[in-house]
Amino acid sequence: MGRLQKILIPFLGLVLAFCFYSARENFKPEMLKGKRVIVTGASTGIGEQMAYHLARMGAHVLVTARTEAKLQKVVERCRELGAGSAQLVSGSMEDMVFAKRVVEAAEAELGGLDMLILNHVGKSYFSYFDGDVRHIQKLLDINFLSYVAMTVSALPMLKQSGGSIVVVSSMAGKVGFPFTVPYSATKFALDGFFSSLRQEFSIQNVNVSITLCILSFIDTESAVRAAADVLQMSPAPKEECALEIIKGGALRQREVYYKYALTKIPLLLRDWAAELLDYLVRQHYRVERPPAA
Ligand SMILES: NC(=O)c1ccc[n+]([C@@H]2O[C@H](COP(=O)([O-])OP(=O)(O)OC[C@H]3O[C@@H](n4cnc5c(N)ncnc54)[C@H](OP(=O)(O)O)[C@@H]3O)[C@@H](O)[C@H]2O)c1
Ligand SMILES: *[C@@H]1O[C@H](CO)[C@@H](O)[C@H](O)[C@H]1NC(C)=O
Repeated sequence: MGRLQKILIPFLGLVLAFCFYSARENFKPEMLKGKRVIVTGASTGIGEQMAYHLARMGAHVLVTARTEAKLQKVVERCRELGAGSAQLVSGSMEDMVFAKRVVEAAEAELGGLDMLILNHVGKSYFSYFDGDVRHIQKLLDINFLSYVAMTVSALPMLKQSGGSIVVVSSMAGKVGFPFTVPYSATKFALDGFFSSLRQEFSIQNVNVSITLCILSFIDTESAVRAAADVLQMSPAPKEECALEIIKGGALRQREVYYKYALTKIPLLLRDWAAELLDYLVRQHYRVERPPAA
């Protein structure tokens, strides 16, 4: 009896804690109605899908990427889907002045900002690390520094609105993956910056949420083109992925895991059995057919 109690009471405590924790606010699409949102890297892939979800929810969306013609189509579609408003700013995130200019456009056109979704990534290669230091520097500018620059510029508006920053990262930003060395480095940098910043916001009572999104393999054109032959895993749908990111941001979650079973569950191993996780990761790669160098 005594022993049973010793096991049962903590167990019940855990179950109750879990129920309490998961009974937090539920997502409702109305949460985004009338909200002013920037989506970067929105000309294709997950960013484009996020723009469409936000439009259906009635948000004001400002999309950005380099290719103006594609953004124009995204904006048109957003208007058809019911966006409060939709506009674009085109340019490259290699340039920090441009990154700042996107935020200024939101201020001028929307009069403020409720959510900053940082999603763009520069083109990299999917093969063994080639030793190109310059490439890493450039990729850090696009995938990391521009995120920092936009956050700095947007912070006054986000503080005013009690807004949210949503940072799209990857399993490759939590665990070492082969064939994406430069990309992985930039994603780890995002975790360091934004997780530290979240701590400071908490200490300083800054009411701006930071949501880091840990994604598995997603079926966007660029990812499938780069990795489908080498990665032994079927990609998850970008539409559902985009929705999960928006939900997590709206609910002010600390992190989003999609697909859950391919991200959160393996990450349980990371700190306790790192070598086992490394081994399991390698099992998903067809290394007998290495990608072209
Ligand atoms: N797909 C996956 O399997 C996967 C897995 C884990 C994490 N993620 C993350 O999810 C996010 C979206 O991925 P995705 O697969 O949807 O990517 P994607 O389809 O390749 O889209 C990348 C976006 O970034 C823009 N972009 C590229 N270079 C840029 C630059 N120099 N300046 C400004 N914009 C630039 C692209 O537009 P332009 O070319 O017109 O500039 C495009 O809109 C990324 O953060 C990625 O790391 C994806
Ligand atoms: C923080 O902002 C959110 C969303 O804007 C709001 O619901 C919440 O009440 C704010 N919290 C505080 C302590 O001001």
